[in-house]
Amino acid sequence: MNTREKNPAVVIAQTGQPQARQAARMLYQAASAGCRQRGLGCLALSGGSTPQALFAELAREPLAASFPWHRTHFFWVDERMVPYEHPHSNYGTARRILFDRLPEPVPNLHPMPSDGDPKDAAERYEQLLRSFFRKHGSGRPIFDAVLLGLGADGHTASLFPGAGRGSERWVQAVQGGDPPVIRLTLTEMVLNHARAVIFLVSGRRKAGIVQRILEGGDQNLPAARIRPPRGSTTWLLDRQSASLWHAKGTPAVE
Ligand code: 6PG
Repeated sequence: MNTREKNPAVVIAQTGQPQARQAARMLYQAASAGCRQRGLGCLALSGGSTPQALFAELAREPLAASFPWHRTHFFWVDERMVPYEHPHSNYGTARRILFDRLPEPVPNLHPMPSDGDPKDAAERYEQLLRSFFRKHGSGRPIFDAVLLGLGADGHTASLFPGAGRGSERWVQAVQGGDPPVIRLTLTEMVLNHARAVIFLVSGRRKAGIVQRILEGGDQNLPAARIRPPRGSTTWLLDRQSASLWHAKGTPAVE
């Protein structure tokens, strides 16, 4: 059944650790379901600052001990073309806050290349994804869950307003964002194949764009266009980022 007609689920959590814990549980559930149903989990992680509390939750008990680390493949939604040890590196941040804090190395981390020619790096990651999804499925880029953030301008991943749409590519090299560097990003088409998309948004600074997307769905905003037709979309907000949105019906409140 095409679920695009369904409104996205909206969950409003208490700011801070409760929201991060809820997001961590959602990733754990998606990866565990993938392991049960297909023998492995497959997640795509975002960068920026919001997911950092979530990464810290995954690195501590109880999830650190129960997460299926050895059967989950971790990919990235986007990456800045900086060295992994650079503070702006999305992969480097996830390593510092999560993966390097676990008692054992996680075997299946697939960071985006962040060196060399950007278009060539995008092509390399696209080939890696195509090969992975040919080996582990139908050949389409179907992640068990994609964790997405939201910029105050309505961008998500590194899909920025006004940028080209509707690419059949799986990975693109783009320029923009904050910091304004060259980035690689999964495309809208890939994100809309996910079994589950989780928008993790916190802070009053995002309240206006959250309202604009959830109330109006302005299709000029990349984040508003991410609604996998055969998957679920959950907006996991905190009270501050949800403060201007007028719920139709009663959102779940954690
Ligand atoms: C990136 C992110 C980006 C981020 C939003 C929100 O690489 O910059 O993927 O899409 O999710 O810009 O960033 P904050 O969480 O820092 O507000």
